[in-house]
Amino acid sequence: MQPNEALLTVDDLCVEYRTPRGPVRAVDHVSFSIAHGEVFGLAGESGSGKSTIAHAIMRILHPPAVITGGHVNFSGDDVLEMDGDELARFRWRDVSMVFQSAMNALNPVMTIGEQICDVIQCHLRLSKADSMDKAAHLLDLVGIERSRLAAYPHQLSGGMRQRAVIAIALALNPPLMIMDEPTTALDVVVQKEILQQISDLKDKMGFSILFITHDMSLMVEFSDRIGIMYAGEIVETADAHDVFNNPQHPYTRGLMSSFPSLVGPKVKLTGIPGSPPDMGKPPSGCRFHPRCDQAMAICSLQRPALREVAPVHRAACHLYELTGVTPRTERGTL
Ligand SMILES: Nc1ncnc2c1ncn2[C@@H]1O[C@H](COP(=O)(O)OP(=O)(O)OP(=O)(O)O)[C@@H](O)[C@H]1O
Ligand SMILES: [Mg+2]
Repeated sequence: MQPNEALLTVDDLCVEYRTPRGPVRAVDHVSFSIAHGEVFGLAGESGSGKSTIAHAIMRILHPPAVITGGHVNFSGDDVLEMDGDELARFRWRDVSMVFQSAMNALNPVMTIGEQICDVIQCHLRLSKADSMDKAAHLLDLVGIERSRLAAYPHQLSGGMRQRAVIAIALALNPPLMIMDEPTTALDVVVQKEILQQISDLKDKMGFSILFITHDMSLMVEFSDRIGIMYAGEIVETADAHDVFNNPQHPYTRGLMSSFPSLVGPKVKLTGIPGSPPDMGKPPSGCRFHPRCDQAMAICSLQRPALREVAPVHRAACHLYELTGVTPRTERGTL
């Protein structure tokens, strides 16, 4: 299915962790939307707020986290206003989640089949035999032999455990899957195989994906559109192709020069100097300015707004507010 209208809209979302040292604003006025059938990627260094956004959408944040503002709309429903029953239906049936380090989250004393059946029987009125049939079909979909229904997690490889977790996320055929670093603990070959399989399933079943990773090469390959996060904010959004070929925000350019391209000319990897800020005491103005090689006087004084710098391409940077759009040379081809 072609990306078209919005399935999920996150609007001006703010989340704080209220710690004894004071509030940590982990997500600061974040807005984005995901269309039907679209893969929207959220990328950014560790601690930039990616998982916090995912947990806020699923409404599974616990104290000291507090959603202090904004809206999350799923298919016309206000997620932040849902009561317990509505949330129980929303989770897994409307939106499922593959958690960061999920493959270690399987129950070690239940077989894979029992764990998939558990999710199915919690939500659908199916007999044990029919649930087991459906579980077997789900294992087929993710490329695990049906005989493995009787296996315990420790009897499976890391890649298989991760596929089993994805099978659980697919169990109720939800229109949206949130995948938080779904393949990070796996080797590169298995990562690519699994992501290719998810991509094929997505094309067949038509679900959308919120894909979270700090691996820019996987991100660009797997996503239709990407939001780049820095210190709790989205600083750039664009089609994956444009994020790769024509990044506009100095932070995105830094990220792009931190990983090797699989194709195209050899370039020296430069990375980004310094480290992300303490979110309890973020820098004034643009949060990236202390690390930015193009910082100007205004950058420490005023926070730049996320504004359109080209069609379907937005960046939050004073360079564009002051001088207008200055498209950069293309880096190469995907
Ligand atoms: N329970 C907590 N208490 C206080 N601060 C927290 C808590 N959980 C997260 N944070 C802070 O919130 C910010 C965002 O964290 P989050 O886990 O969402 O980042 P992330 O982008 O998912 O990082 P990673 O790539 O490492 O998974 C970080 O600065 C983190 O220190
Ligand atoms: Mg995370």
